[in-house]
Amino acid sequence: MPRNCNCSMSTVGTDMERVPYGLLLPAFYKVRAAVWELPDTVTLELAPGTGSTPVFLPGQFNMLYAFGVGEIAISLSGNPADNESFVHTVRNVGAVSSALCGLAPGTQIGIRGPFGTGWPLDAAEGGDVVMVAGGLGLAPLRPAILHILSHRERYGRVTILFGTRNPAEMLFRSDLEDWRQRLDIDIEVTVDHADPSWHGSVGVVPGLIARASFDPKRTIAMVCGPEVMMRFTAAALTAAGVPENGIYLSMERNMKCAVGLCGHCQFGPDFICKDGPVMRFDCIASIFAVREV
Ligand SMILES: Cc1cc2nc3c(=O)[nH]c(=O)nc-3n(C[C@H](O)[C@H](O)[C@H](O)COP(=O)(O)OP(=O)(O)OC[C@H]3O[C@@H](n4cnc5c(N)ncnc54)[C@H](O)[C@@H]3O)c2cc1C
Ligand code: FES
Repeated sequence: MPRNCNCSMSTVGTDMERVPYGLLLPAFYKVRAAVWELPDTVTLELAPGTGSTPVFLPGQFNMLYAFGVGEIAISLSGNPADNESFVHTVRNVGAVSSALCGLAPGTQIGIRGPFGTGWPLDAAEGGDVVMVAGGLGLAPLRPAILHILSHRERYGRVTILFGTRNPAEMLFRSDLEDWRQRLDIDIEVTVDHADPSWHGSVGVVPGLIARASFDPKRTIAMVCGPEVMMRFTAAALTAAGVPENGIYLSMERNMKCAVGLCGHCQFGPDFICKDGPVMRFDCIASIFAVREV
């Protein structure tokens, strides 16, 4: 199917010759720290064996290999200025993620990557930025938020909108509390279901967009969360006047090769592993509207 836009965000080729050998073989890393964020979610700090420097673009992912179990795509969730380790936040939902969540400090792990496209942090400079996350979707946005906060003068108004199921399942709570102390960003957190401890917003995260202050014509929006949440968020952003080519979504599909060879992650004419995961909304709007794709 032909694209209806001219964007090209690929970082690797589709033929074998253009795939660097190093992207097909896992490198050895060691678990330096494993921190439980929530009862089912762990943040792993992974230090390289010899020879590699962990460098990535916010929004990219690595393939994490739990030896003897399998390999899955996991987004980078750490500070892009940290060149000593890769940081990943993993939710235990199945065989491989469960093995990764169980890794103790000192254990070896295999890593291929980083892969895929990043958030448009350079394009966003000089304008307003709206970042909208649902649940674990805050993990791939966290490196972009940390980058923007440490280069705050480059951006206009910065808004972070975060939705989670309930207060007990709030990911990166201490980050959210730190960011809330800042006077130079707007941050709103909402929960689907409140408990007696919660005095903030109740409702789904797209509902926060109409209340947020930004200049839609000079805004870049970065969105990550469950697909249904991204659907409603993209609709709310366009209703608020943000052009489709100013909205970026992070897409998820099952991955195998991660280099555009196997077709596992096909999404219409694109492969999420190399044309995504961060994709501009106008490039995928027609296919994104088809739920089963
Ligand atoms: C680009 C990209 C980035 C990703 N980033 C992260 C990340 O930062 N952290 C993270 O934890 N995962 C992330 N994932 C999801 C991850 O790759 C795996 O799909 C997921 O961990 C399940 O793998 P599994 O082998 O453990 O479970 P499986 O055995 O594949 O699945 C077990 C069960 O869990 C369900 N399931 C699969 N994926 C999910 C999911 N994401 N949420 C809830 N239920 C699910 C399946 O439908 C199935 O019922 C990302 C995926 C992609 C494509
Ligand atoms: S995972 Fe093989 S083509 Fe994307």
